[in-house]
Amino acid sequence: MTQARQKQGKSVFIRTYGCQMNVYDSERMAGLLKPLGYGVVEAPDAADLVILNTCHIREKAAEKVYSELGRLKKIKTARVRDGDEMVIAVAGCVAQAEGPEIIARAPVVDLVVGPQAYHQLPELLARATRERGEVLATDFAVEEKFDRLAERQADGPAAYLTIQEGCDKFCTFCVVPYTRGAEVSRGVDAITAEARSLAVQGVKEITLLGQNVNAWRANAPAGGAGSDGSTWGLGELCRHLAKIDGLARIRFMTSHPRDIDDGLIAALGEEEKLMPYLHLPVQAGSDKILKAMNRGHSAKTYISQIAKIRMARPDIALSGDFIVGFPGETNEDFEATLALVEEIQYASAYSFKYSRRPGTPGAAMPGQVAEGEKNQRLIRLQALLEAQRAAFNRAQIGKTLPVLFEKPGRHPGQLIGRSPYLQSVHVDAPQSMLGSIAPVRIADVTPNALAGVLVRKAEVAA
Ligand code: SAH
Ligand code: SF4
Ligand code: F3S
Repeated sequence: MTQARQKQGKSVFIRTYGCQMNVYDSERMAGLLKPLGYGVVEAPDAADLVILNTCHIREKAAEKVYSELGRLKKIKTARVRDGDEMVIAVAGCVAQAEGPEIIARAPVVDLVVGPQAYHQLPELLARATRERGEVLATDFAVEEKFDRLAERQADGPAAYLTIQEGCDKFCTFCVVPYTRGAEVSRGVDAITAEARSLAVQGVKEITLLGQNVNAWRANAPAGGAGSDGSTWGLGELCRHLAKIDGLARIRFMTSHPRDIDDGLIAALGEEEKLMPYLHLPVQAGSDKILKAMNRGHSAKTYISQIAKIRMARPDIALSGDFIVGFPGETNEDFEATLALVEEIQYASAYSFKYSRRPGTPGAAMPGQVAEGEKNQRLIRLQALLEAQRAAFNRAQIGKTLPVLFEKPGRHPGQLIGRSPYLQSVHVDAPQSMLGSIAPVRIADVTPNALAGVLVRKAEVAA
């Protein structure tokens, strides 16, 4: 008898690619499958169900899916030969963008399910097993998705919470408006209930997620303080969630420069539970390129917004996303990106070579930049960003920072936590401190983390 048949319940293996929203969705899918008897396993080999939660943002990300499906095909073929079964599902943004193509290219796939149809998973799975054919579900029903997804179990003291999904910005390089659909905001009550449930489970830090999280808008909750029938923005939501007992830290991502409003800046300045860290992608520093990207802001407006935010919250650390080699980007345009980075001084950043995505306006633009040129620019930009990140980390030496302990470290007696600036901090501390926040004096930096020592209460008070 095979290993799979001896098992009591069923098992699911989920591989997650791409952004935090996919991480959140994977957790929710696991939560939805649990009542159906599926336990999560760490490897695909003996799983009854394998879900690839995919990302379509760059060509490389999308292609990874097909190579993974190639590996899974071998596993599944061997399993079927043994009289066993294995259902393979492709979820996420590749599913949404290339559903029929996946089924044509990879017949091993039983089910294709887009990000707005996860709540239908139980029915879809039943159909996929019953009909033994491919099932494709890529309709947009994001509100229904949130209503019907089961509550999830917290996994550690920090958790993601999706509050907004989709994007109306249509940057000319980006697939997200096509894969995630139009901007939809979840209601205050649903978000608050989920945040409360996480807090009860010991979660100390929540990161509110949205493709454009600061485009979030919803009606103020009925009853209680603040119920004047007004519409809230992200600033009001953060202040509201900050009242939840047990929650100590609130973050949000990803923000768009176009939707930063005064309410959010004021909340960043006043609400202590809002962490002093803002991910605010700019993509490029040349106004000509920003216009061609349809970003809806200039370099100058971005810089002045950051000045305003820094005025409200002087200790704020910034991070950003950058694309080099967008069509039409000259050396001079690229120099403008470097100049903007010099001006802002980032604590961390992500940077990418422009990837031509089918169906986006950028893909058809003249002036596509040669791969070699993109490589050169990326190397220069990353060197600058890395120097800024290292300098920011070094500047923490000697400071005492509150650290949220998230997991055991590699060495016995060590814990790994997060600083307010999202830096990983390694500290010698007892296991009993997992899930708590304590002051740590930063003593050293390693390439990817800070190292520090616990500060005892008496020392802090002194
Ligand atoms: N909603 C967020 C992030 C979207 S995707 C925002 O508006 O900023 C994350 C990052 O991937 C983007 O910020 C961008 O820097 C990068 N990206 C998106 N499309 C890309 C493409 N076609 N080629 C290279 N990088 C891309
Ligand atoms: Fe993509 Fe632009 Fe929307 Fe961000 S704002 S998800 S980069 S289209
Ligand atoms: Fe990728 Fe979709 Fe997120 S394309 S970055 S998984 S929204």
